[in-house]
Amino acid sequence: MLKNIFELKNDKLSENPLWIAIQSMRNNKLLAFLSLLLLIFQIFAYNLVPIFNKYFFDALEVLNFTNIYKLLFLYILILIFSQVFKYAYFITSSRLYAYMQTQIRKDVLSYLNLHSLNYFVSRPSGKVTNEYHNLYDCNKILFTTLENVIPSVVVLVVSVVLAFLVSNNIGVGILVWSILIILISTKFIKLLSKRTQELELVSNYFMGVLGDFISNVKILRIFNVTKVTFNRLTKIASNYCFVALKKWRLKSIFGIFLDFCDVILILVFTVVLGKMYFANLITLGDLTMLFTLAYRIDDSLKELINSVEQIVADYQVSAIAAQNILVEIDNLDKENAKHMPVLDSLGISIKNLSFRYPKSKSKSNDLSSINLEIKSGEKIGIVGRSGSGKSTLFKLLQRQFEFQDAKIFFNDLDVNDYTKQSVRNNIAVVDQDNQMFNRSLKENILLGRKVSDKKLNKVLKDSHCNEFIENLPDGLDTLVGERGVKLSGGQRQRVAIARSMISKAPLVLLDEATSALDSKSEKVISDAFKKLSKDHTMICIAHRLSTLHFVDRIVVMDKGRILNVGTHDYLLEKCKVYQSLSKDQLH
Ligand SMILES: Nc1ncnc2c1ncn2[C@@H]1O[C@H](COP(=O)(O)OP(=O)(O)O)[C@@H](O)[C@H]1O
Ligand SMILES: [Mg+2]
Repeated sequence: MLKNIFELKNDKLSENPLWIAIQSMRNNKLLAFLSLLLLIFQIFAYNLVPIFNKYFFDALEVLNFTNIYKLLFLYILILIFSQVFKYAYFITSSRLYAYMQTQIRKDVLSYLNLHSLNYFVSRPSGKVTNEYHNLYDCNKILFTTLENVIPSVVVLVVSVVLAFLVSNNIGVGILVWSILIILISTKFIKLLSKRTQELELVSNYFMGVLGDFISNVKILRIFNVTKVTFNRLTKIASNYCFVALKKWRLKSIFGIFLDFCDVILILVFTVVLGKMYFANLITLGDLTMLFTLAYRIDDSLKELINSVEQIVADYQVSAIAAQNILVEIDNLDKENAKHMPVLDSLGISIKNLSFRYPKSKSKSNDLSSINLEIKSGEKIGIVGRSGSGKSTLFKLLQRQFEFQDAKIFFNDLDVNDYTKQSVRNNIAVVDQDNQMFNRSLKENILLGRKVSDKKLNKVLKDSHCNEFIENLPDGLDTLVGERGVKLSGGQRQRVAIARSMISKAPLVLLDEATSALDSKSEKVISDAFKKLSKDHTMICIAHRLSTLHFVDRIVVMDKGRILNVGTHDYLLEKCKVYQSLSKDQLH
């Protein structure tokens, strides 16, 4: 039973933030149990105080000193124990809170990591970051429930029961009063939660635009259009203020309402209880206990309402994040997918590959009926006009998108039968993006992989990184700046080439990998690649035909199809598109 509550079903995160929080305790069940126990002790000790009050003042009224001393001793014991429980709870619960937060961060991150590249490129990174932050905060919901809602409910119930024991009329009065206030507050909470939802949507949108603004600040300055985005941001910000103001206004009206109820309750209690005491209907002990109860009911009602309001708000913020982050993974591995080992050599067979991007309307972007056989160790060039589908073919080889009715084999292994990551372990890619982390050059080349100094030095030499590293202030330890802005385009490209050279993958995909280099460096690097990839299979998309001097065959693509395959000389003679590509480059 316990196991079922905590364990993830099929390793999937629930979309309900409260469940995510509960399941995050799965590795700390004992600590969770201990915290709960201490909390129960604490609530129990707190609820003993009004009963003590009654007996103490009853003993005081008749000056029964033996009982007075006994009760005083008991009171000190209750105080000591409640402090001990409080402290012990603080120690266990703060530990539990930290472990849960770490677990949720890990769980959500693992889930995020399952998403396809398409998920990430379709969403502003600032928005995803904000939502991630909101989601890992979902254990707050559980803690507010345990620490605030449950104790207040217990105090309310105990107080009403005690009031009934003293006088049925007062018991009924308190019960009706509490239900009335809770009912009115539900209306307020509903309204407030609507405002919270609005506020969260604006906030996520703002973070998305802000993230875009920061990462594209260079282009905005070049075209001197910073003001446009800036104005858009301030507009969203003032909308945020407007929605926030509406929420805060409602919240303060709610606060005033609760304070007003406070005053009324104490006034009514003073008058009614005073009358009852002087009419000898209740003892001094009853009077003190009922007053203590009145204050407690007041406090716990306020606490209950405020914490429910807080929980609803937190829940909504986390639920919106969960809806966006925990969407179904769009290219999950098959259930029985196998692990593809890193192959020694790799031949490729593409059979009848057709593909259209999800949600794409235009047929002209489709890849259609691609058939291609590449022998292990072969070097292939791909050329074609921009938009002809070359990079798309690479994305499909890396299994970034699903394709139907087609087969791609690595040797005789159908890639669709294997996990995506294990297929990708067989591929090293250098593309046009050359994404960089804002870390040191060395970290950017190694990407967490471990290689010997000897191998690293060889790679730095072969990729011609050495030439510029020598001139950098801290050599390999130089920080490259946000997205590598402190490096030139050509230098970034050489770093990307070094990355791929470190990989042991038997298939190397180069997507215009040397386009930012001058012809001389390009030739030197292509030669290095050729040397490095003696046994590797290599496919090289190139804009400049001269880059392909080392390849065995060239594939010409046009409008998503393979038009022709052959050597440079053969294509120059037979293929019109190739002739025109070649002619364009001479002019
Ligand atoms: N993620 C994507 N979603 C939808 N369409 C895309 C995506 N990436 C590329 N395309 C479209 O697919 C077509 C082929 O693109 P691509 O393979 O990058 O061309 P090439 O590399 O030959 O220049 C283009 O029309 C492009 O607009
Ligand atoms: Mg391309």
